[in-house]
Amino acid sequence: MKIAPSILSADFAALAEDIARVEAAGADQLHVDVMDGRFVPNITVGPIVVEAIRKRTRLPLDVHLMIVEPERYVGDFVRAGADMVTVHAEATPHLQRALAQIRELGAQPGVALNPSTPPTALQFVLDDLALVLVMSVNPGFGGQRFIPGVYPKIRHVRTLLGPRPVEVSVDGGVKVEHAGPLAAHGASVLVAGSAIFGAPHPAEVIKAMRSAASAV
Ligand code: DX5
Ligand code: ZN
Repeated sequence: MKIAPSILSADFAALAEDIARVEAAGADQLHVDVMDGRFVPNITVGPIVVEAIRKRTRLPLDVHLMIVEPERYVGDFVRAGADMVTVHAEATPHLQRALAQIRELGAQPGVALNPSTPPTALQFVLDDLALVLVMSVNPGFGGQRFIPGVYPKIRHVRTLLGPRPVEVSVDGGVKVEHAGPLAAHGASVLVAGSAIFGAPHPAEVIKAMRSAASAV
């Protein structure tokens, strides 16, 4: 199980230190939440911040675009140093084009699904994907409550993917107690913001998540 701390819950005025802290704590990748105030009711960061983070960490950058018409910006985010770029299925009528664009630019393409979006949204882009980000909250804010309907949904996504080597990542409200059941249902990456940055010892949370996941 890979653990991806979401910097949404970091201290943005001390971002480099917070990133160094989770890197030292054993994070596998860094999750960057990009919000535009249109697809979601909140605004966060753009490519400039991704570029600044790129210079401060060796961790792969997993950039989660919660923006409308993501195809207009994927190039900027890849050039800024994103290793993975995830677009929402609900945010573009041109999902396949956006994914192909991300791959052509040299990054790994991902699709995110809101809690109410069925896994069948992936059906005709299965071969264009490196990752599926299954939302376990409605996107827009950190610190929300985990929606347990995500468990059977992960199974559905895994069934659709078949033997393809695609990561299934879960994002929103993930705490240590969810790591075991999420692993059992087929998740391979856990995104966690408040659970990791809000803890006095992030390393303990990361270790606990990983060991709960590997115990199933
Ligand atoms: C929600 C974001 C998540 C969020 C996770 O819109 O996509 O990545 O930051 O934070 P927690 O773990 O606090 O729900
Ligand atoms: Zn996210």
